[in-house]
Amino acid sequence: MHLSILPLLALATSSCAFPALFGRSSMRKTSELFDTRIAESLAYPPNGWELDENAVLDKDTSMIKLRIHLEQQGMSDFQDLAMKIATPGHELYGSHLPQHAINAMIAPKDESRDLVMNWLDKMGVKSQASMAPRGDAILVEASVADVEKLLGAEYSVFERTGYGETVIRTLEYSLPKVLKGHVSFVQPTTFFGLRTMRSTISEVKPVSLDTESVNAVEAVTGCSGSTITPTCLANLYNLTSSTSTQTAGLMGVAGFLQEYASKSDLTTFMSKYKYFSNGADTYTCTAVNSGSCPTSPSSPGAEANLDVQYARALTKDIPNVYYSTGGSPPWLGTGTNTNEPYLEFLDYFLALDSASLPNTLSISYGDDESTVPLYYATEVCNLFSQLGARGVSVLVAAGDSGVGTSCTSGSTKTFTTSFPAGCPWVTTVGGTTGNTPEKAWTDGGGGFSEIFGRPSYQDSVVSTWLSTDTTHSGVTSYFNSSGRAYPDIAAQATNFVIVISGSAVAVTGTSCSTPTFASLVQLLNSDRIASGKSGLGFLNPWLYSTGSSGLTDITSGSITGCSGVISGAGFSAVSGWDPATGLGTPNYGKLLALSQAT
Ligand SMILES: *[C@@H]1O[C@H](CO)[C@@H](O)[C@H](O)[C@H]1NC(C)=O
Ligand SMILES: *[C@@H]1O[C@H](CO)[C@@H](O)[C@H](O)[C@H]1NC(C)=O
Repeated sequence: MHLSILPLLALATSSCAFPALFGRSSMRKTSELFDTRIAESLAYPPNGWELDENAVLDKDTSMIKLRIHLEQQGMSDFQDLAMKIATPGHELYGSHLPQHAINAMIAPKDESRDLVMNWLDKMGVKSQASMAPRGDAILVEASVADVEKLLGAEYSVFERTGYGETVIRTLEYSLPKVLKGHVSFVQPTTFFGLRTMRSTISEVKPVSLDTESVNAVEAVTGCSGSTITPTCLANLYNLTSSTSTQTAGLMGVAGFLQEYASKSDLTTFMSKYKYFSNGADTYTCTAVNSGSCPTSPSSPGAEANLDVQYARALTKDIPNVYYSTGGSPPWLGTGTNTNEPYLEFLDYFLALDSASLPNTLSISYGDDESTVPLYYATEVCNLFSQLGARGVSVLVAAGDSGVGTSCTSGSTKTFTTSFPAGCPWVTTVGGTTGNTPEKAWTDGGGGFSEIFGRPSYQDSVVSTWLSTDTTHSGVTSYFNSSGRAYPDIAAQATNFVIVISGSAVAVTGTSCSTPTFASLVQLLNSDRIASGKSGLGFLNPWLYSTGSSGLTDITSGSITGCSGVISGAGFSAVSGWDPATGLGTPNYGKLLALSQAT
């Protein structure tokens, strides 16, 4: 008897979720729904992936969670509003929006939803469909065999060469012609990029736990010249007068790729290297998208430990959360294939109420922009614009390959850009090194997005750089100067001492720069919140205007790259904004006064 409960529940759910399911406008003749067009087609799997001939895929029992993304309306009006909310001096500055207000502005047409449901009904999978929480997509959990019928696709197992990682993907899929203009993309289908998302740590080398005590000459207190500790950063970035206790707000650190932080390593790190004597030494771990939070991971991640240790050491008593995000490995044979985790990660935050959101989010993970399909990059970037309008300051690492490594696109030589660093709705952090003077770190990421145009907030400084900088005249043909330029800002990137499995090591990368700058932003956010103001939210319009005088312009050193492909490749740090170090590095004391006055 209990067997009949399941289908009934499914019916009840779908009829609540889709009250207008068979509205007049959504009725289509069945024949129209079978008139399809190819939505996307790849001649070969992307570089680095190959068909796994030996894999056994049971298409009747392996499940896929399909996300049918509906065309949104009103995105550009919403983004105009989001920009006003982030622009100092505008009457709407700081009036961050609740998610339901954003959803109402950008909701897909009812007709789009009804058409898709009509199609799913005709194809016999309507009972497995549900509306995504923000109303922007319809989710269908179905067997591979059913998804193949739905999309006219053929799914196979592909392996990432040399990594033993597998995904179930198709090289082509089709949609009914009548859905054109209603469905923007369907995933997982032809996008393989999930496992190439990588953390931006580039070097790990052992140091003694006592390195900082054997310094000979210190130009800046706590900076030995060979390693960076929280004390060094506090002195270099003018944090030393900041002795008050701060507890308001929430600092967020993103984790992916089964990078787990160790609490006992944090305890060791804090006992040895903490700067604020009154600072807290704990964080909480929140699992996102079926991620996990082991208390004592057998091999803690260097990225996770770095992020957690520096965020904790620099944010005083402000609560810290590590968001351990699952979803990158597609489970073969058992479990359900999902999407790559950025969408799920952002879904998680956008579903939180405003009081539960972190004020600042530090993300040290990225990928080559050219490996991310345009529709996918656009969607993720649009979600970042929503997070900013909700009031979250998002900082993203610029990458560790300078202007690129492969530096070719087909037969064209070009600098390689990074994602999501090139999204105009995040604040991108480049790298510096040394302190007499502080200069650009040679491998720090920088450049011009190939897919996103230049946003208005940086128009003036980027135009100035393009017309006055003389150091890039030999490389103008290798980047698109109309693209969104990054980094926006920079911070130290080399030889950060972290503790991992009880030992101290030095690590290098814009993975160091990002939690450093993000922690200082969290201190600014917490201070504003404690005095009854909103957080800074999306930072860039503030950084490029009022905030810029709180930054130290970096004018020496350069970023390089494209070794063996493009001679002379790179960008120099010069006076004013430049694509090596952006607007410069933080002077916390000055930024605090500026953020309080905004
Ligand atoms: C350069 O970037 C702009 C803005 O993103 C874009 O409209 C244009 O098509 C790009 N040009 C080339 C040659 O890629
Ligand atoms: C450091 O910040 C304080 C404000 O807290 C400011 O008065 C001082 O000028 C800053 N120091 C430097 C060297 O910029």
